[in-house]
Amino acid sequence: MGNKVCVDAGSEYCPCHLAKSGDCISCSLLSGKDLCECDLKGICIYQNFKKNNEKIIKSREGILCKVLKNQEIKTNIYLLSISIPKWLAYELIHPGSYILLKDRKREDDMFNSPISVMNIDLKNHVLEIVIESLGPKTKDLLNSDTVYIKGPYTNGIFGIKYFKQLKSKKVLILTKGLSNVTLINAVNNLLKNNNEVKVFFDNSGKKIEEVESKLKELEVDLKYFDFKNNENRIKEELKKGVDMVFSAGSNRFNKNIMNIVDSVDDTINLSITNNNLICCGEGVCGACIVNIKDEKIKTCKTQIEPRVYLKEALK
Ligand code: FES
Repeated sequence: MGNKVCVDAGSEYCPCHLAKSGDCISCSLLSGKDLCECDLKGICIYQNFKKNNEKIIKSREGILCKVLKNQEIKTNIYLLSISIPKWLAYELIHPGSYILLKDRKREDDMFNSPISVMNIDLKNHVLEIVIESLGPKTKDLLNSDTVYIKGPYTNGIFGIKYFKQLKSKKVLILTKGLSNVTLINAVNNLLKNNNEVKVFFDNSGKKIEEVESKLKELEVDLKYFDFKNNENRIKEELKKGVDMVFSAGSNRFNKNIMNIVDSVDDTINLSITNNNLICCGEGVCGACIVNIKDEKIKTCKTQIEPRVYLKEALK
């Protein structure tokens, strides 16, 4: 896949365990090669690692946090409000942020559940998340008034570079199902940079009303229709001129959106939700690996070009 971009490269969590084990995602020298092949600007992971006597600078630790509210908003779907430290609240406002969450009574990290950030109240340092009750891990969480939160993790969106580049542009967001939860951070970020944002909801999927009302407060243009029977409506919007499409849904949904976008203009920037199974979030366990052009890519940390991912990993 060529030079790979690790979302943590150059952050306070870099170099990580992967530098020590010879598996660094972005640094060829720290992954067993003789030559530097990275194109990171202003960061040298290799130098930082050597300067720090080959030690890991900082690891994410579980922080004990209080659950303030737990409300069933749909059958088996719960909205949790959790008090978190101020520094973490500021780290979790970025598009694609997620956390690992486990019940305080569980010692083992196998009980960690990866959960997308839905909303952050920066004034009161409150995190809002949505949890679907699926098995022992989530059932534990839903009965708990204190939880361990590990974070921030940031690779919840592929194509995040397009978010970072966009200023005063036009963005179309297409969404279906519980991936709606990624929208508030995404829209806040886009509006902060003066972008014009429209959101189309596929109303054949589940919707989280709390997300919709927050988007209404932000005065975003929202439309609701069945995408399957109204593809032309999406195409017409794209033909008016759109600089980026963010598709927030299942892999199948995102692939379908890519095909619609490409039938109008395959140069429109595309970003998509990362729906891969995540376990450790640190590039260590391998649960999130996908095969792209015969290369194994750890999707919990590696940014993948959305069109390459949708065409190669989902063949
Ligand atoms: S989730 Fe463990 S390596 Fe990616």
